[in-house]
Amino acid sequence: MTSTDLRIDRDRLIRRLEDLGAIGAIDGTTGCARLALTDDDRDGRDLVRTWMCDLGLDISIDGIGNVVATMPGFDPAIAPVMTGSHIDTVATGGRYDGNLGVLAGLEVIETVIASGVELSRPLAVGWFTDEEGARFAPDMLGSLVYVGGMPLEEALEIEDRNGIGVGDELDRIGYRGAAPTPGRVPHAFVELHIEQGPVLEDEGITIGVVEGVQGISWTEVTLTGQSCHAGTTPMRLRHDPGVVAADVSLFVRSLTRDIGGSQVATVGALTLHPNLVNVVPSTAVMTVDLRNTDESVLQQAETRFRGHLAQAAEAEGVGVDTRMLARFEPVVFDARVVDVVEAAARDAGLSTKRMPSGAGHDAQMFARVCPTAMIFTPSVNGISHNVTEYTEPDDIESGANVLLDVMLRLVEMEFA
Ligand code: GLV
Ligand code: MN
Ligand code: MN
Repeated sequence: MTSTDLRIDRDRLIRRLEDLGAIGAIDGTTGCARLALTDDDRDGRDLVRTWMCDLGLDISIDGIGNVVATMPGFDPAIAPVMTGSHIDTVATGGRYDGNLGVLAGLEVIETVIASGVELSRPLAVGWFTDEEGARFAPDMLGSLVYVGGMPLEEALEIEDRNGIGVGDELDRIGYRGAAPTPGRVPHAFVELHIEQGPVLEDEGITIGVVEGVQGISWTEVTLTGQSCHAGTTPMRLRHDPGVVAADVSLFVRSLTRDIGGSQVATVGALTLHPNLVNVVPSTAVMTVDLRNTDESVLQQAETRFRGHLAQAAEAEGVGVDTRMLARFEPVVFDARVVDVVEAAARDAGLSTKRMPSGAGHDAQMFARVCPTAMIFTPSVNGISHNVTEYTEPDDIESGANVLLDVMLRLVEMEFA
């Protein structure tokens, strides 16, 4: 058998997606909730680790809980071709976001091992802690630490909304490992992921050839006003942080219309306190997510958002405190790896489209240290971060086979 004849085992891959999706399953749906470093995340980790152990892979766990499994029997001086993604989910997640990239990577390695094909460098698959950022900000935390973008000590101190720290949770679930960070630099990195948007399905295309990732700006805003009686306090005497939060939500929506292009803006979390029908709120805590493929335009959006926030808060007599939760510039992937993805898909007779990623991904962190790109498969109805998230088995199979071919081609490539 030659490496070009290899095909992944579709049923095994789908079965594993289902088995992992059963952990943290949301009743009555095919969705799941495995927020980073919760008990369900630990159970998901344990399951995938068992599969990796069964294959005889060398497993390393680093200080932020990233788990990387590498084909054994190679000279340690030879850097692996790495793939991977995440297995944490948002609280209303599906079973494909991230999970597909990890389990397809495992499937690729299992296929290669079973074939007996000899490679000149190992393949590796990893999952990276807290990619979603839904519990601990910033998102892509594990891969950021892996590539040296944040010191481990700083990452371990990060707390969730209840004041529970990353380091403590890693200890609690038994995933604070001994492997050093920054981690070993791969020869190249490629990540398979669902598109999470509607473009591929809309255009009837099977493989997205991802050329880069748009920039991400997350801000948490705390507005502090005066809580008082909803019936007795004249409107002119109010300092209502809820009104400012609503104003800012509408402003960032209008900003996207004004800026146009790829600009998106989302107020995804908003909490009023005390959150009662007859009490003017004392505080509003909201998040603002701004993204653009163009760094200078993203900066303009941030400036205009902050300006409006200050103005609206002043007009209402409300205090403002802001905290940057995440800020990553747009990333351009390595043209050579992008070309390999496109060639592999086309040689398999699959339709392709070059596109940017609207979502953040671990691959954008690896792009800092090694040649990197991504492969997208379609998402039914373009839906993700939602329990109805779904990708057709045929598309999963095509994506995983493209991943297999790309990884084998990367083994043979030298990057100056
Ligand atoms: C990660 O899922 C993101 O918000 O892009
Ligand atoms: Mn993801
Ligand atoms: Mn996600």
